[in-house]
Order: sequence, then structure tokens, then C-alpha cells
Amino acid sequence: MNYVEFKGGNCLEIKKIGVLGAGTMGMGIAQVSVEAGYSVVLIDVVPEIVGKAVIRLNQVWAKAIEKGKVTAETVANFNALLVSGTDINDFKDVDIVIEAIVEDIDIKKKVQKQLGEICKNDTILATNTSALSITEIAAATNRPNKVLGMHFFNPVPVMKLVEVIPGVVTTDNTAQVVMELSRKIGKEPVLAKESPGFIVNRILVPYMNEAANVYQEGIASAEEIDKAMKLGAGMPMGPLALADMVGIDIVLAVCEFFVKEFADSKYRPSLAFRQKVRAGHLGVKTGRGFYDYNM
Ligand code: 3HC
Repeated sequence: MNYVEFKGGNCLEIKKIGVLGAGTMGMGIAQVSVEAGYSVVLIDVVPEIVGKAVIRLNQVWAKAIEKGKVTAETVANFNALLVSGTDINDFKDVDIVIEAIVEDIDIKKKVQKQLGEICKNDTILATNTSALSITEIAAATNRPNKVLGMHFFNPVPVMKLVEVIPGVVTTDNTAQVVMELSRKIGKEPVLAKESPGFIVNRILVPYMNEAANVYQEGIASAEEIDKAMKLGAGMPMGPLALADMVGIDIVLAVCEFFVKEFADSKYRPSLAFRQKVRAGHLGVKTGRGFYDYNM
């Protein structure tokens, strides 16, 4: 076993990464990990999702070859580092699993418990939750001291930040290993204490929610709201386009979680979010949200 020295003691060196969930986030996490030279096992229980992710990754890399950013040989190496499939038993020899599945605490607890039973004793279990309690997820496993939040941002290949969130009993070593891993895959980690939404979503989700209220009240159109925030507040994209990109279902779920956790109505989700979700207009991923992406 290889160990590297950190301030807090000896830590496992990550060589092989498991990514569970091949949706937008999981695919992006697998991409940056492979590009940084790690062996990656990408698993999704739905064969179509994992199949699509591998096709999409190769489209991204084909574009990168066209732009002269990488060679065909490098892309062949990326593919050699990537193993994909549908069986989570394939995680048995990974050093860390980064779970990026549906944002549902009961499902996450069940899956993380299963991961604990499958993985080696020293494997770290990370969750890419947007807002949920790390401690609660950790407590469902056989290794709560090796469970933590590793929160990436969409689009993963572009956004530099990773929030690293230890739970109540997570060891310093575990957090240090994940901080270091984040740097090695080209990200800037920040350490955040466990609290609903951590840092970014605590601030960003109420911002998107208020934009949806402004839309719902008919104060301005989606285009005008987004234009106003881009030109008036220097945002890289407007809040409603951002909600479409993140997924309106996810933003709504985080608002609902905040209302419950903080017992504070200031986080009450906008009716606009509820109506879009009820209509199945979840944003870019369904082709329609505040904007129509099929046109
Ligand atoms: N996937 C991969 N790469 C992408 C991408 C995507 N979805 N979108 C853009 N890029 C890449 C482009 O290929 C381009 O790369 P290049 O310079 O090497 O050619 C680069 O990003 C810039 O792209 P564009 O010029 O087309 O677009 P912009 O300059 O307008 O940038 C953006 C696009 C990066 C999405 C920018 O608008 C932005 O930063 N938006 C804010 C995103 C944000 O706030 N994300 C956080 C959401 S919250 C979250 O994820 C947490 C979760 O828990 C909810």
C-alpha cells in the first residue's frame, strides 16, 4: 500500500477512482479524473446512461483533438484508463468512490451502505451531494470516519471549485487526502463545515429562487432577468439559464431541504420552480425549462 505524508499523519494515496452515477456530474468527474491520469471505474446502474456518458466523453475528446488541444494518442490513453459498467462490485479495489447519484437522502444512505460493504476497508466514500447532511449519510455506512462531501460544480470540466465537507466524525486525514486529490485533478478545494448547502448552494440557490420569483410575478421575462444579472451584476450567465443548466428539479429539492432544515420560510421555493417541475420542464436535460432548447 502506498502512503504519502500529510500534516495530519499518513494517508492513503489515491490511485484508482470509482465514480458512481454517469449523469452530467458523474461524467464530468470521470472526465477530469481520467484527464489527470487516474484509473477510473465509472458505474451507473442504468446501462443506457453509462453508454451515453462514454459516447459523450469521446465526443468531447474528439472536439479537443480537432481544436489541437490533445492528440489522438492521449485520447487513446484516456480511454485505456476508463472502465465503465453497471455493476457496483467493480468498485472492490478502488481507493475512493465519488458518488454522484440522485439527490435523495434515503437512496444515498442505502447506496453508501452498500459501497461500504463492497469496498476495501481503507476506501474513502465521497458524496457529491448538493446540500444534504454528510453526517447522516456517513452514519449509514460501516466507516463514517472515511465518508465526506466532495462537491463539484456544473460544468465540472470548467468550474475550478470543489467543496470538501467533512461530517462530524470524518478524520482530518480523510479530508486532507480529498483536498489533495482535488488539486491533482486540477481543482481548487475549499473546506466547508457541514451545514445545509455548504457555501455555494447556500448563497446561489436562494439567488436563483428569487430570480424565479421575479419571473413568476411578471416583473420581467426570463431573457430580461438573465440579461439584467449578466450586464448589471457581472454574472457569467443569468440565474434562470443557470437553473436550467443545473436542473430545476435539483434547485427545487435544495430549496425544500433548506425550508425543512432551517425552519425558515425565507427559503420557500418559487411557484415557478414547482410548475416547471410538475410540467417535466427541468431545464437543459429535458429540452425545456425557462428556455426551450429544442428550437
Ligand atoms: N461542459 C464542458 N465544457 C463546457 C461546457 C460544458 N457544459 N460549457 C462550456 N464549456 C467550455 C467550452 O468548451 C469552452 O472551453 P474552451 O475555452 O476550452 O473552448 C469554455 O467552457 C467556455 O465556453 P463558452 O465560451 O461557450 O461559454 P462561456 O464563456 O459563456 O462559459 C460557462 C460557459 C462556463 C457555463 C459560464 O457561463 C459559467 O461559468 N456559468 C456559471 C456556471 C455556474 O455557476 N455553475 C455552478 C452551478 S451550481 C452547481 O453546479 C452546484 C450543484 O450542486 C447545483
